[in-house]
Amino acid sequence: MSHAPTPPRPFRSHRAKAFAGTVRVPGDKSISHRALMFGALASGRTVITGLLEGEDVLNTAKVVEQLGSPARKVGDVWEVLGRGVGGLAQPAADLEFGNSGTGCRLMMGVVAGHDITVKMTGDASLSTRPMRRVLDPLKTMGVKVLDGRDTLPLSLRGSSRLIPIVYETPVPSAQVKSAVLLAGLAASGATTVVEKEATRDHTERMLRYFGAEISTERHGSKTAITVKGHAELAGQNVTVPGDPSSAAFVAAAAAIVPGADVTIAGVLVNETRTGFYTTLREMGCDVAFLNAREEGGEPIADIRVRQAKLTGVRVPPQRAPSMIDEYPVLACVAAYASGETRMEGLAELKVKESDRLAATVAGLVANGISARVDGDTMIVAGGSSVRGGGVVATHMDHRIAMAFLILGLGADAPVGIDDITFVATSFPTFQSLMTGLGGQFEAV
Ligand code: S3P
Repeated sequence: MSHAPTPPRPFRSHRAKAFAGTVRVPGDKSISHRALMFGALASGRTVITGLLEGEDVLNTAKVVEQLGSPARKVGDVWEVLGRGVGGLAQPAADLEFGNSGTGCRLMMGVVAGHDITVKMTGDASLSTRPMRRVLDPLKTMGVKVLDGRDTLPLSLRGSSRLIPIVYETPVPSAQVKSAVLLAGLAASGATTVVEKEATRDHTERMLRYFGAEISTERHGSKTAITVKGHAELAGQNVTVPGDPSSAAFVAAAAAIVPGADVTIAGVLVNETRTGFYTTLREMGCDVAFLNAREEGGEPIADIRVRQAKLTGVRVPPQRAPSMIDEYPVLACVAAYASGETRMEGLAELKVKESDRLAATVAGLVANGISARVDGDTMIVAGGSSVRGGGVVATHMDHRIAMAFLILGLGADAPVGIDDITFVATSFPTFQSLMTGLGGQFEAV
């Protein structure tokens, strides 16, 4: 099945007079994908509250169904009827992942332990993204790539007799780590992933919650995560907390609109995800985590952000994994900070939904801001005002689109984007939620 591309929807944002209120952002994208997939690999029923109903996650739900595990909305919750590790079925049609690297790469690990053949496809953006990083370890475990090479479309043949491995990830990627651990659930023995830099740990936490035997050990600066094979997972109730990567757009707007005061309730504050908030604080913004609590094995809090005078900072490379999706919007905040902001260690940004290093710098420059890339470092020279007036190429990338709509909320002239369509992949309520707080947007 192929979809005719829809025409682009240009949009723009204007300077906001005020930005205040309390909101909830949609459920975390990483946890939503995992809840559906782990539900399919569990026996019995998994009930998910607060699932992100963005296009990326809805594609994962469809794929889970195609693999023989019903995943449906029942009233306000989502229900997955799992088939158990090794119990998924041969799909009748291609598996389509749309724009989602997480959906596709994690599903490679899910499929790996089954004697089935699947063809995986994605949109034009996903079809350029590197898959070898996941395929290499899975091939060592026994998966066969029948058709295709390093990018989608690809056909894979899984195996019910996977070999357990010890694998050190060459890039800091939670998707690679997760794919290997998910394959490891079906292998005949223990599979270990070693990370040089810790990445988001939702797979580890949630697999444990579903009953897998999984352990994490630190060896100096490295982390080794081991999962026991032939795992038996049991269906669970999962509550998905608010997505800190979506909340970052609300927080960023609050950081730049004069007098802003916003609270985002019920946000995931797992420390593998909060680097953006640490950085905002270092820039001088007033950021507080209130009512800290735990839900379903993850820490959450209400995040209050109040505008303050911002100063440029150096963001160290070690922080990159904990805010990897937030650099485009941080660069837009940096445009309003006095002095230079240096963001280091950003090689992975080049292989996201777009080349986010290039797209972010081009968007800033189009709006009169001095910005450049030096190797893997992005440098933004900020000031008290932003000229605006540019139109930003979003390259099918939701986070580039949202970051520049935020930039416009403080700019002298409106900031345009060439297409708002892809915002629906991760934050379908972006426009209405932001407008409710005082954001000024219009279709052009
Ligand atoms: C994700 C991991 C990150 C992140 C993506 C979600 C995940 O990707 O950018 O939005 O859910 O595991 P990488 O693993 O490629 O860094």
